[in-house]
Amino acid sequence: MQFSYPEGATPIDGDELEGLLPKHISFQTELNAWEQLNILEAEKWAFGTPHDDLLTLDSIKRLHLKMFGETWRWAGQFRKTLKNIGEPAHEIPQELLKLCGDVQAQLDYRSSPLEEIAIRLHHRMVLIHPFSNGNGRHGRIFTDLLLTRYQAKRFSWGRDDLLSPTQTRMIYIKALREADRGNIMPLLEFAQS
Ligand SMILES: Nc1ncnc2c1ncn2[C@@H]1O[C@H](COP(=O)(O)OP(=O)(O)OP(=O)(O)O)[C@@H](O)[C@H]1O
Ligand SMILES: [Mg+2]
Repeated sequence: MQFSYPEGATPIDGDELEGLLPKHISFQTELNAWEQLNILEAEKWAFGTPHDDLLTLDSIKRLHLKMFGETWRWAGQFRKTLKNIGEPAHEIPQELLKLCGDVQAQLDYRSSPLEEIAIRLHHRMVLIHPFSNGNGRHGRIFTDLLLTRYQAKRFSWGRDDLLSPTQTRMIYIKALREADRGNIMPLLEFAQS
């Protein structure tokens, strides 16, 4: 099986590939389509369910499990190997707990507008990179769940396919890299475009 990766995607390693559940898949396009169906079902669940415990490790993992549970055996489990982006694997739980605590405090004190709190959450979450794959897609839906939990609208995330190497994806990845350097504004603008 040969996968191709757009700019800024995390390659899947051999061990992780073992965990591919549908056995008929041999092309990237088939994998994308299968994952997409799985994610659509997960979105129906996610936006139709109250999330009072959103900022918890369990809820972060549960969303990933719902999104990728029909696709990967390791769905809903934090990664065990180091990736080209993200913290060493053993630091993931503590980094996420810190993130959840910080976001809760920002929400309690409304230190900045909800949309800014949400996009900072998104950037830190994908930077921690909790899972072997699916971090971008998980992080975007998780961010949208935070917004809707507080009665705001979901982000539009460029209104385009972010999985393929589109111009829109380049803008997203560039904005994340700008956020890595401390400037969150291009990412906020992108998410609302
Ligand atoms: N420089 C960066 N800083 C922060 N996050 C990044 C950076 N580069 C990539 N990312 C995030 O990592 C994601 C890629 O990780 P992964 O392949 O696990 O997710 P995915 O949902 O499969 O991604 P993709 O959006 O690539 O399909 C990107 O979508 C983006 O959210
Ligand atoms: Mg990926």
